[in-house]
Amino acid sequence: MIRLERAFLFAMYNGNRMYEPEAADIERLVSWYRKNKRSFPWRDTKDPYHVWISEIMLQQTRTEAVISYFERFLKQVPDIETLSLIEDDDLNRLWEGLGYYSRARNLKKCAIKLMEEHGGRLPEDYEALLKLPGIGPYTAGAIMAIGFGRPYPAIDGNVLRVLARYFAIEDDIRQDATKNVITKSVEDYYRKTEPDQAFVKDLSQAFMDLGATVCIPNGAPRCDLCPLRENCQAYEQKLIEKIPYRSPLKQRKIIDRTLFIIRNGDRFLLRKREDKGLLAGLYEFSGVDEKLSAEKTKEYLAEKGYDVLHLKKLPDSKHVFSHIEWHMDAYEIKIGNWDIPLKENEILVNKKELQKLAIPSAFKTYIEYYALRESEDEI
Ligand code: ADE
Repeated sequence: MIRLERAFLFAMYNGNRMYEPEAADIERLVSWYRKNKRSFPWRDTKDPYHVWISEIMLQQTRTEAVISYFERFLKQVPDIETLSLIEDDDLNRLWEGLGYYSRARNLKKCAIKLMEEHGGRLPEDYEALLKLPGIGPYTAGAIMAIGFGRPYPAIDGNVLRVLARYFAIEDDIRQDATKNVITKSVEDYYRKTEPDQAFVKDLSQAFMDLGATVCIPNGAPRCDLCPLRENCQAYEQKLIEKIPYRSPLKQRKIIDRTLFIIRNGDRFLLRKREDKGLLAGLYEFSGVDEKLSAEKTKEYLAEKGYDVLHLKKLPDSKHVFSHIEWHMDAYEIKIGNWDIPLKENEILVNKKELQKLAIPSAFKTYIEYYALRESEDEI
């Protein structure tokens, strides 16, 4: 039975249940945020460019870890025009450690488009934002709401969890249908209440902070601190542990690799990856996509024209991407014939020269093994 003071209304919309948050709950949430909000550099700004950069970084990395990347990025790339002109290697280097380099490439592509088609500014228009490279519904919503104070939902994993619990939605939150129902609940709320810009900016981030600090993803949520508890349906129905439901992800594909760390004193042979695909345009140690014994490695390199003098087994390592895992064996290799010509995509660099190149964290074990990275201040 539906009680009048309930936090939500049930109705049907295109066969889906409709939900609506109680306005008083949302106001309590925003008041809670204004007292308890976490301090981040992207919150001290009104510039939509800053919001855009922070949101792209925050999609892949822990909030605390993003702070130094964000500050360094803005120091070196203070505006859209600078971003549109940045060298790819410099951009990749600024992104190193954040992963998902295609996001950095899309930032630059987007900046070029903004220069060409939008006078060097982010448009204050949700549909126009969606047409830009690397900007999907979440980022467009976040730029509109946090950057411009316009009433658009920005539904990330935190918001999905908070609202799935608040409404006691037991459906799979990976499904678009579930996301759509939750998105619509925020849209309807905005349509009815027409809040001011400051309220929209704060509400968008209030959901995020509640999800990150109270209605947390792993471990018991801190319901005693929650401004939504009074009307939280999962709390009332003791469903907190069941909600949100996420269907399991597909298993990742495992790729075995053998890396050849070809070294001549303090110089290392690196190669640039292809312009397309995984880790496009980044530098790596050479290697093959299979496990080779020391003997087979020698044979392989001899066939390629290398005179292998010495070969040393290095620690194995593993790197997990979203859909694949690299399981890597590695050998340090000394060769006798350094007069062998480098291929077009190969370079021989010392530690100082290597600082300018972006090397994916997939190779962290070997970068650390040879202490090849100087501290970030020296970049
Ligand atoms: N996660 C994504 N966007 C965020 C923001 N603006 N503040 C804190 N965490 C976030």
